[in-house]
Amino acid sequence: MHFLVLGTAAGGGLPQWNCGCDNCKLARIPGSGLRPQTQSSIAVSVDGENWAILNASPDIRQQIDDNRQLHPMALRHSPIRSVVVTNGDIDHIAGLLVLREKQAFELFMTEALAGIIDDNPVFQALDADFVARRTIALDAPFPLLPGLQAALFAVPGKVPLFLEGAEPDIGIEGEQTIGIELKASGRRAYYIPGCAALTASLAARIDGADLLLFDGTLFTDDEMLASGTGQKTGRRMGHMPIDGAGGSLEALSALTIGRKIYVHINNTNPIWRHGPERDTVGAAGFEVGHDGMEISLASDT
Ligand code: MLT
Ligand code: MN
Ligand code: ZN
Repeated sequence: MHFLVLGTAAGGGLPQWNCGCDNCKLARIPGSGLRPQTQSSIAVSVDGENWAILNASPDIRQQIDDNRQLHPMALRHSPIRSVVVTNGDIDHIAGLLVLREKQAFELFMTEALAGIIDDNPVFQALDADFVARRTIALDAPFPLLPGLQAALFAVPGKVPLFLEGAEPDIGIEGEQTIGIELKASGRRAYYIPGCAALTASLAARIDGADLLLFDGTLFTDDEMLASGTGQKTGRRMGHMPIDGAGGSLEALSALTIGRKIYVHINNTNPIWRHGPERDTVGAAGFEVGHDGMEISLASDT
């Protein structure tokens, strides 16, 4: 299995258009050491020729341009065979509108996420004669690409921000927020860019994996409040923090996983920069993703 981290930042990207936090300021300075990062998406392939996109970010046009593996090989062609979305957030679905030029691919979603797409007429721009919408049941394995088996599973989360009522349920487990399991050539990998809590069943599922790409939105739960950039905690946004009691660093360190890489990292997160928080993550055996990162899991056979 080959992975390309297309976009490592959470919604808004790094820098975010209206943000003047320390990270966003640095990311606007060429040569500062902090390079701009696009919004949440990865690509996966087994043969290097056929690719699946996990989450279609608003930056997908640039992401395709930045990664030669995704360039057309003919007058009208794309190596992108399939797309899966892990929730209905704008950073994960808006890119579908970019993929609208009468190019065939399969779009895999849970029924609940398909409902969000189907309810919004703007997504009719994806011509049904070319884009096949496939509804996938939770925990039912399906071929995402030839030779690559995937399964979608529930992860604690919430409905998209734009569908929140006054009091949204946080941490609900169902079809609204999912993780993706990938299996090929005896290897097992997980992509979980949004997760409100690591439940015992989720921990048991991912234990022993060769690779985990996991929600690194915030380092501390109150990071947005403390930095003056927002009023919500990470948990209120449906994202468990990295640090602290019940954080992902502690919860995932108890498991045996080949490589653990943080993705979906908010622009306020201090792990973008060298410093004590990044050192803490590194010392615990976690990597910080970056746009253009390539990961290959050799066949186990
Ligand atoms: C999130 O990950 O919490 C969402 O992408 C936030 C948003 O929709 O802006
Ligand atoms: Mn997001
Ligand atoms: Zn910022």
